Amino acid sequence: MATCYTLITGASSGIGAACAKLLSTQSRLILCGSNRERLEQSLAQCAQQEKHLLWVCDFDAQFDEVFDGLSAFLKDNDAVVDNYVHCAGLTRILPLKDFTPTYTKTVFQVNFFSIVEILRVLLKRMNQKALRNVVLISALVSQRGDRGNAIYAASKGAVNGMVYSLAQELAPIRINAVMPGLVNTPMAQRTPEEFREKIWAKIPLGKGEPEDIANYVAFLLSDKARWITGQTIFVDGGQSTL
Ligand SMILES: NC(=O)c1ccc[n+]([C@@H]2O[C@H](COP(=O)([O-])OP(=O)(O)OC[C@H]3O[C@@H](n4cnc5c(N)ncnc54)[C@H](OP(=O)(O)O)[C@@H]3O)[C@@H](O)[C@H]2O)c1
Repeated sequence: MATCYTLITGASSGIGAACAKLLSTQSRLILCGSNRERLEQSLAQCAQQEKHLLWVCDFDAQFDEVFDGLSAFLKDNDAVVDNYVHCAGLTRILPLKDFTPTYTKTVFQVNFFSIVEILRVLLKRMNQKALRNVVLISALVSQRGDRGNAIYAASKGAVNGMVYSLAQELAPIRINAVMPGLVNTPMAQRTPEEFREKIWAKIPLGKGEPEDIANYVAFLLSDKARWITGQTIFVDGGQSTL
C-alpha cells in the first residue's frame, strides 16, 4: 500500500520551512523547492528526518514538467499526498509600467499556475481518495492595495478565487487559503529595512514570525478544522484593520 505524505512547496525557506519543521513531528513530508541545498538545510531542522522526501522542482524554469515530474515522483516513491500546503511564492515589487510579460508569467507560474498543475496530479485517480486537505498561502495584499504589488496581488487574488469554487467542487476535501500580513522571512527581508520596520511598528500585534502562520496551517490541517472549507483567512496580527 502507498505511503501518505504532506506535500509542502516552498519548504526551503520562511513560512514553508516553518510549516515543515512543525508538521514533521506528526507527518511524513515531501519538501519541495527549486534548490536542493536549501531544501536539505530545511530538512535538517525537521523531526524524523529519515521519513521525509525531497522533490526539487523550479515552478518557473521547469513549469512544463510540474505535472509529469510530480506524477513520476509519487509513482517512483509509492507515495500519495493527503495534505497539500502551497507556500512557494515570489514577488517582484515594481510599478506596473515596468513589468515585462516574462516577469508577469514568472509570478503567476510560481504563485498560481503551479497550484493548478499540482492539484491536477493530486486529483488523479491514484491520489484522489487519499487527498483530504489543501492549504494555499495567499497574501493580505490580495485584498488590500499596495503600490508596486499589482501583479503579485493579482496572482494571490487568483488563489483566493479558486478556493471558493474548489470548496464546492472538491468536498469533502477541504481547501482554504491563509492571507498573511508582513511576516519576518527572507521575502520580507528583501524589502528596504525602513519600509518593513515602519509596517511592523503599526501592526496592532507587531511583527509576525513564520511560526505564526505555520501554527494556523497546522490547525487547518487538523480535525479541529473539520467544518472549515472555502475560506480565505487573514493571519496578520491585525494588519488588515489598518
Ligand atoms: N513574508 C511575507 O511577509 C508574506 C506575506 C504574505 C504572503 N506571503 C506568502 O507566503 C509564502 C511564503 O513566503 P516566504 O515569506 O516564506 O518567502 P521566502 O522565504 O522567500 O520563501 C519562498 C519559497 O518559495 C519557493 N520558490 C520561489 N520561487 C520558486 C520557484 N521558481 N520554484 C519553486 N519554488 C519556488 C522558494 O524555494 P527556493 O528557495 O528553493 O526557490 C522558497 O522556499 C509565499 O507564497 C508568499 O507570497 C509572504
